Amino acid sequence: MKNAKKDPVAQYNIERWAALARNRAVFTRPQLDLDAATARMLVDPQGRLGDLKDRPVLCLASGGGQQSVAFALLGANVTVVDLSAAQLEQDRFAAAHYGLEIQTVEADMRDLSVLAPSTFDLVYQPYSINFVPDATVVFGEVARLLREGGLYHFQSANPCFAGLLAESWDGQGYPLHLPYVQGALIEYNDEAWIFRGDTPGEAIHRPREYRHTLGTLINGLTAHGFLMVRLDEENLGHPDMEAVPGTTEHFTAVAPPWLRFWASFRPNLLGMPQDG
Ligand SMILES: C[S@@+](CC[C@H](N)C(=O)[O-])C[C@H]1O[C@@H](n2cnc3c(N)ncnc32)[C@H](O)[C@@H]1O
Repeated sequence: MKNAKKDPVAQYNIERWAALARNRAVFTRPQLDLDAATARMLVDPQGRLGDLKDRPVLCLASGGGQQSVAFALLGANVTVVDLSAAQLEQDRFAAAHYGLEIQTVEADMRDLSVLAPSTFDLVYQPYSINFVPDATVVFGEVARLLREGGLYHFQSANPCFAGLLAESWDGQGYPLHLPYVQGALIEYNDEAWIFRGDTPGEAIHRPREYRHTLGTLINGLTAHGFLMVRLDEENLGHPDMEAVPGTTEHFTAVAPPWLRFWASFRPNLLGMPQDG
């Protein structure tokens, strides 16, 4: 490990993601059948990113051989950062499969000092920011790495529903019971779908995530010079209120579990005064 802070948060996730990769959880399976059209659907389904040829793109906390090769197939000049050596191995495997070149960097998203400042046009972060207690540290790192006018995408747990699962159904709804507190630890059990129905052959640390409140995310972005340009609320496609209560389809129709933030790095734009 080159520059990761081996604090308990990092250590826990290194062990967890190595075990997930050994047991072929969906997030660790490289995408080996992409073409330009399906690569675009994977990372840019709304077609917002335009021509990516030769654009410097950082796939952040994005190991596993999915987004990195998708961007590379679209012509981008890709660097992928992840804490997990096992996950980065999948990126190298997928890149070799397509005959593509990508750069893999083993690092913690909270310390990206190994990368040069003002390097990237796009930082694309799939679901991962909830694995660290303080998202604003990551925003500071991303601000350092983006060129002015560059774009930052990240997916996060929907702060309003974080910690709820389909199995939380109690006959009437999905009751909120966890504190809405910045940085609060949320632990739950892996759901069967992440192993595509197989039972893992070993005990794996359960997901350990941290709530980032909506105010923390928005104010953390603006404090680091970002301008919000889009917010996507995600479920599994169309909300299906006819679905059976207690199923993933019903739960996600009631409580969209994920948000996608798109923010432009505009440090010199006159904006709202920041607190403090
Ligand atoms: C849900 S996966 C997302 C990426 C994967 N390509 C996908 O599409 O599912 C989360 C990734 O975050 C990484 N990760 C967790 N904590 C991290 C940290 N502190 N710094 C960098 N990467 C981290 C994990 O190793 C894992 O590869």
